[in-house]
Amino acid sequence: MSLEDLKPAVEKLISQKNLDINHRLTEVCDLLQTKVDTYDWVGFYFKNGDKRELILKAFAGEPTDHTIIPFGKGICGQVAESNQNFVVDDVAAQDNYIACSINVKSEVVIPLFVNGENIGQIDIDSHTKQAFSKEDEDFLTWVNDQVSQQLEA
Ligand code: SME
Repeated sequence: MSLEDLKPAVEKLISQKNLDINHRLTEVCDLLQTKVDTYDWVGFYFKNGDKRELILKAFAGEPTDHTIIPFGKGICGQVAESNQNFVVDDVAAQDNYIACSINVKSEVVIPLFVNGENIGQIDIDSHTKQAFSKEDEDFLTWVNDQVSQQLEA
């Protein structure tokens, strides 16, 4: 299924106002992880209150030990500080990287902004090298915008 074709389903899942936001985020993770071949693990990390750390709020795929990540550590922790997308074509070439599984070959992390503030991120791991293109970045930025609208609402 193309990324564009997934947009209506993402919009539907994220706007289920009767469900709490973590439940809705988990459903979005499940959708992306099952429908996109190269998305092997999908998760949302959020800033943990006033602490300089991220906490995993929702995911689909293998459970990870890395449910809390300090700012600056790994790809996720770097994005918490840089406010920039981070595409890793080959995780083996990264020094500041936290391995969740030996099967992971590439990763993308896109910051999530609410009212202009970087409050979290979507993180996707792939078992395929160089799995993420500009199209994935644009799609995941769009996904984060949908989540942001729910958090602002
Ligand atoms: N690889 C990430 C850690 C999170 S796992 O991918 C689920 C990182 O380097 O920050």
